Amino acid sequence: MTNFTPQLTADGSFTFFSKTFNEAFHSIYGAKQEAQKKFVEPCELPQKAKLQDHLSILDLCYGLGYNTASALEHIWQVNPDCELNWIGLEIDPLVPQEAIARELCSEYSPFVVDILTKIAHNYEVKTNNFQGKLLINDARISIQEIVKLNLKFDAIFLDPFSPAKCPQLWTVEFLKLVSNCLKPTGKLATYSCAGAVRKALLLADLFIGSSPNIGRKSPGTIASFKDEFEDLSLKEREYLHSRGAIPYRDPNLNDSSEIIIERRKIEQEKSGLETTSKWKKRWIL
Ligand SMILES: C[S@@+](CC[C@H](N)C(=O)[O-])C[C@H]1O[C@@H](n2cnc3c(N)ncnc32)[C@H](O)[C@@H]1O
Repeated sequence: MTNFTPQLTADGSFTFFSKTFNEAFHSIYGAKQEAQKKFVEPCELPQKAKLQDHLSILDLCYGLGYNTASALEHIWQVNPDCELNWIGLEIDPLVPQEAIARELCSEYSPFVVDILTKIAHNYEVKTNNFQGKLLINDARISIQEIVKLNLKFDAIFLDPFSPAKCPQLWTVEFLKLVSNCLKPTGKLATYSCAGAVRKALLLADLFIGSSPNIGRKSPGTIASFKDEFEDLSLKEREYLHSRGAIPYRDPNLNDSSEIIIERRKIEQEKSGLETTSKWKKRWIL
């Protein structure tokens, strides 16, 4: 269940609040800013658009569509002829529809709003420079279809609710399928820097780095198949060897969040790794 009363964030843009996940859809520091600084810029889409006339994007957890809107806006600002292949995954069709009905995306250019409107209502859009499909289903099922089709993307936006609220979209098994969809030169971006998320990305054979901590205490994470990022800080690297970095697992990609959380808790209790509280004490947090 989602509360479709728009909630103001610090940059003047609006978000929704999910009663099911008990979490806002965006950072209170700024929904629109988060889309640009945590997803579009870390994936280097504006730079890529200067060099390429064709780009592909996988938007995992499409929601109100801000990450996609920001990507289209920034790509076409630098290269109006850039052709885009796009796939979005979302479980609840009402979220994008309500975002359009409440005109939350109206700060973006009219041609971007036009595409978001068609995505929300028709789930499929084709224009002279945009071809896209929104798959309405559990992302754990949709991602298997994408892998079967052997589709590969220049950029993947990984934007589920937080690991504690939606662990099923941060598991080793799910992220391995997601990494299968990344081009060898592609980049995946997420707002999360949780140890469990970073460890799962590493287990999916990706290299990781930190993206900027715009307005927040913590950075996000950027990942790719190339060893191309600045080293994580010592504090971040040590955290990856603590219990906090034991990843979530969902062997058959169909367990409930409660089972996935419980499975991880048991693994943490059995583990001889340093506890998160000890790690925190050492770093005087
Ligand atoms: C944090 S919000 C994403 C915000 C979005 N990227 C945006 O820019 O507005 C998470 C989204 O994941 C969707 N979601 C939750 N569980 C899902 C699942 N199992 N599969 C696909 N989407 C899911 C929610 O409906 C919600 O729209």
